[in-house]
Amino acid sequence: MNQVRMSGAAVEAIDLVKRFGDNTAVDGVSFVVPEGTVLGLLGPNGAGKTTTVRMLTTLSVPTSGTGRVAGHDIIQEPDAVRRSMGLTGQAATVDELLTGRENLRLIGRLSGLSRGYIRETSESLLERFDLTAAADRMAKTYSGGMRRRLDLAVSLIAAPPVLFLDEPTTGLDPRSRTELWEVLRGLVRDGTTLLLTTQYLEEADHLADDIVVIDKGRVIAAGTPTHLKDQAGAASVVLTLTHAADLGRAVELIRSCSPELHVEEASRRITAQADGLADMTRIGNLVESSGIPVDDLGLKRPSLDDVFLHLTGHRAESTDDATDTAEPETAGVSA
Ligand SMILES: Nc1ncnc2c1ncn2[C@@H]1O[C@H](COP(=O)(O)OP(=O)(O)OP(=O)(O)O)[C@@H](O)[C@H]1O
Ligand SMILES: [Mg+2]
Repeated sequence: MNQVRMSGAAVEAIDLVKRFGDNTAVDGVSFVVPEGTVLGLLGPNGAGKTTTVRMLTTLSVPTSGTGRVAGHDIIQEPDAVRRSMGLTGQAATVDELLTGRENLRLIGRLSGLSRGYIRETSESLLERFDLTAAADRMAKTYSGGMRRRLDLAVSLIAAPPVLFLDEPTTGLDPRSRTELWEVLRGLVRDGTTLLLTTQYLEEADHLADDIVVIDKGRVIAAGTPTHLKDQAGAASVVLTLTHAADLGRAVELIRSCSPELHVEEASRRITAQADGLADMTRIGNLVESSGIPVDDLGLKRPSLDDVFLHLTGHRAESTDDATDTAEPETAGVSA
């Protein structure tokens, strides 16, 4: 690896364009992934995530633009790029008729690694991905989560400094997803650079240092999760009254300090724009000191979901975690 040319960037996309006939799948995408960090490439179905990853991993030739992986140009030096990276594709790639251990050894041999190295590394990867007990079973008997873990283990056998993961947790149940997040965090702690695509805002929020949001082949936003959430607007105070009959009076009171508010009668809830905790306390005190009983008071910061809505005019996919959807998060703020 040429350290000078790396210049701190593990992956660079430079004005990447990919056309399929009249369809421009990727329309001038640029970003940088600094060494040792995680970039989340976030976007809805058909946004161009897989196409971008395929170009960067040399599986597809850009219509125009280029990119670099570990300092190597994807068009000029595809072999060097392939040696510096691992890829876990959107669809499982393991050989179903081989055992977990055999899959690892096969890919190790195809990567030109020595037998001794392959044996040792396979065992430690099986251990790390909690597959030791299942190592001698055919992959077709594995659960979805186990397959994803084997996929990931296989893409790590050659210890690539850069790892591309295309929707690594799509189709996994919430528990397997959280487990895989843990594994990915471990990789990053050990110095691996990750570029992962996802449709799940929570995933990007949990794992990524930086997020690039793409929609219809274009970058529509980029920054840290916090930065993106700040863009989506101010925080708000959510106040739930005990009695719906008090709503009118409470609204009058709150309006004196926060004119932008939204009322939901059915849930007895008032949402008012606020700068932070101080505003929340002020509003809470104001209402309570005038004798209006309050059931609940909270501060809601914009979620990445709000960011997406703000940027694209439509909501992104979200995970099935009931805990997330049950919160007042999405309630009426945009209505
Ligand atoms: N080989 C191909 N031939 C023609 N069109 C393609 C090809 N691959 C992708 N496309 C088109 O390019 C666009 C972007 O697709 P892509 O697979 O990159 O999206 P994605 O963001 O990965 O979506 P998903 O979340 O569904 O995986 C889509 O309109 C898709 O139909
Ligand atoms: Mg895809």
